[in-house]
Amino acid sequence: MTEKVAVIGLGYVGLTLACALASRCFQVTGLDVDEEKLEKIRRGTPPIYEEGLEPLLNHVLKLGALKVTSDYQEAVRESEACFICVGTPSNPDGSVDLRYVEETARMLGKALKDKPGYYLVVVRSTVPPGTTRNLVRRILEEESGRSIGDFGLCFNPEFLREGKALEDTFNPDRIVIGCVDRESGEKLLVIYRKFYGDKLPPTLITTLVNAELIKYVSNAFLATKISFINMVSQLCQALPGADVKVVAEGMGMDKRIGREFLAAGLGWGGSCFPKDALGLLRFGEELGVQLPIVEAAIKVNESQIEHTVKLAEELIGDLGGKLVAVLGLAFKPGTDDIRESRSIRLVEKLLERGARVRVHDPKAIENARKVLGERVSYAGSIEECMRGAELCILATEWPQYRRINAETLKRLMKTPALLDGRRLYKPEEFREIKFKAIGLGDSNQEP
Ligand SMILES: NC(=O)c1ccc[n+]([C@@H]2O[C@H](COP(=O)([O-])OP(=O)(O)OC[C@H]3O[C@@H](n4cnc5c(N)ncnc54)[C@H](O)[C@@H]3O)[C@@H](O)[C@H]2O)c1
Repeated sequence: MTEKVAVIGLGYVGLTLACALASRCFQVTGLDVDEEKLEKIRRGTPPIYEEGLEPLLNHVLKLGALKVTSDYQEAVRESEACFICVGTPSNPDGSVDLRYVEETARMLGKALKDKPGYYLVVVRSTVPPGTTRNLVRRILEEESGRSIGDFGLCFNPEFLREGKALEDTFNPDRIVIGCVDRESGEKLLVIYRKFYGDKLPPTLITTLVNAELIKYVSNAFLATKISFINMVSQLCQALPGADVKVVAEGMGMDKRIGREFLAAGLGWGGSCFPKDALGLLRFGEELGVQLPIVEAAIKVNESQIEHTVKLAEELIGDLGGKLVAVLGLAFKPGTDDIRESRSIRLVEKLLERGARVRVHDPKAIENARKVLGERVSYAGSIEECMRGAELCILATEWPQYRRINAETLKRLMKTPALLDGRRLYKPEEFREIKFKAIGLGDSNQEP
């Protein structure tokens, strides 16, 4: 039974998977090319923030169940299967940059040359349909001089949500396995049976291409659902008496629609939805197939930031020279990830309009500083962020922001004005104490 596995690429996906596997009796070799990252991991400090990851990492290091390296030969020697979890960012034209996957396949192929016996390669990075067969398989065969049967090949998409990565790894809704042949799929199932015991999640076994497509269209569908409600939020804003929060609640009570992903806000960001929606669009174009719904979802997502800036101007007039306090920079609560964060995009727009911006985030300041530099000021506490501000914008719904008290804000701010971009507050409570307050998607007018 496969007990020794390697995880290649120790970012949000790979490090989570490596720690989870190591906590359940697998002997895991983690591999990354970033030596600084490896050093942090060896010391028990995850290079990323994810709830519960630090204690789990320290636990598995103490058990001796996880070790990390940058040496492919060592990782392959020490394992019977590997999971490829390297990044697949966007090219400037929106297509998918596969250079890290290519490089990984090349290095793996070389290492497989001297590996006796069967070895299973599992691609877990999100890659366009056809990549596992046409790129990964080809390179592995060329570099190793071996062929399918000597080694197995699967595409097994990752569906975790950042901020809940461990929870989702231990309790996923489903497992999708695309396999080049029956044996590869069965070998991967053995690993998951060992990991989940008698709680194996519902599992779909299919072709490589179907599995690759399932990942892309799942993300595009979820992004579209959010864009749909954000489109409705713009309609509600213009319709006296309408409130998107109530409308979404009523819609979501229908089982066919469901309540999830119907929270209007600044839009979707993060490392997956934006790049995967664009990647799918470009992939469709290559095949000569238009995907107008995905295109519209992207368009709505872009328009939501301009819409938010307009609301800010409605509240306090021209933004030039005004001090705007922005709460939350991570693309969602529970993570330090700011990739494609709508909040960062909003800050950029506010700066373009001449506003002075002060920001706060419980976890993402260090990452935000790399992008925003000295163009904004950074607050160590919510109070510090609010002091002297002329407008407060709630951009990421961290739980600690729920506790914000309208009276305290009013005392700290220069002019009490709130733009609730995530519908965390009851605007009427703010208005009661003469706060100017707008909730995104709430018309704030009598019908
Ligand atoms: N982040 C998510 O929530 C999430 C969810 C589902 C799927 N995915 C997909 O999983 C993949 C990884 O995403 P991530 O967010 O963990 O990325 P990440 O950028 O956090 O991590 C990628 C890691 O790969 C390493 N790497 C790059 N080239 C390498 C090489 N040749 N050999 C070994 N390591 C190498 C990098 O140093 C980095 O540590 C992507 O394809 C992404 O689309 C991500």
